[in-house]
Amino acid sequence: VTDFSINVNPLGPPDEVLRILRAELPGIARYPDSDCTVLAARLAAYHEIAPGQIVIGNGSTELIYAVARACRPRKVATAEPTFTEYLRASLHVGADVEHWLAEPPPYDLEPFDPGKAELIWLCNPNNPTGRLWPPAALRAWIRNRPAIPFVVDEAFLPFLDEEREHSLIPDLSRFPNVVVIRSMTKIYALAGLRLGYAVAAPPLADSIRSQIPPWSVNRLAQAAGLAALADHDFLQRTRHWFSAERKAFDEELNGLSPDLEMVPSKANFSLVRIRSGSSVWLAQLLAERGIIVRDASNFIGLSDGHLRVALRTAPDNERLLAELRSLLSERGQSL
Ligand SMILES: Cc1ncc(COP(=O)(O)O)c(C=O)c1O
Repeated sequence: VTDFSINVNPLGPPDEVLRILRAELPGIARYPDSDCTVLAARLAAYHEIAPGQIVIGNGSTELIYAVARACRPRKVATAEPTFTEYLRASLHVGADVEHWLAEPPPYDLEPFDPGKAELIWLCNPNNPTGRLWPPAALRAWIRNRPAIPFVVDEAFLPFLDEEREHSLIPDLSRFPNVVVIRSMTKIYALAGLRLGYAVAAPPLADSIRSQIPPWSVNRLAQAAGLAALADHDFLQRTRHWFSAERKAFDEELNGLSPDLEMVPSKANFSLVRIRSGSSVWLAQLLAERGIIVRDASNFIGLSDGHLRVALRTAPDNERLLAELRSLLSERGQSL
């Protein structure tokens, strides 16, 4: 089975991470450093900020929930379709959720009136559409709304060469109302180990940190994070694979059938709409051929006919395209 439903780097985990994990295994008898001191210092150096601005968690999902508990908003705004955990974390703290629907396909993102929202969740690039927030408009919006916390989830940004231009981490000294969420599970393929971090101005970072249970980030995850950050070559190889494969996959899939409409994606996954067919049905047909894709019909703002497909290695992507071609030819070029 080849899994295109999870958006994890297919080149990982880095070899050095696996080596360190083997070496660290005997250490699991001892408690981890609850403050993740060394990893926080390394991340701070990497982003050129102070260690006190970093909060490390058991995957970025833990941080999304910690932010909701720290800020306790009565009302939040989301830009749909987007990652569902913002909704769940908000409901957990009893918030009302106001959904702003992105423009129609290709789902351009633009600042919106958040009404009475006391927190805004944004995803950049957005899951599942792969769209980026326009950087200047996003910064101007945040500047004009200094009283509202903006939580910007950059889980997939490290795949992009243009990471620096789009990341809000370098702007945090000007934006005390921003929390940036980063995941190490996507870019370094540590989804089963769990590692993520939030970055914010020190007072906000402290209040998020106070919501994380002690020893939440285990010894192996901390060691893996350090090894991953030291492997600059892995990040370069990933970005090289990403830009080459993004382009090749887009070209192939775009020309496949007038029945398939691809949302132009800047991320390591694509939202695909089947113009006249069902995504549940297509996902089932592909599963019978050993290919798993994400039926995206349950995202707010999407409907049956939407699939999300992750970018994988060239041979895997070629296999998916070949199966789609064969399905299309069996069905007279429509789905
Ligand atoms: C946009 C986004 N943010 C965060 C996460 C959570 O990642 P993790 O908790 O593994 O760091 C995901 C997982 O799918 C995601 O899509």
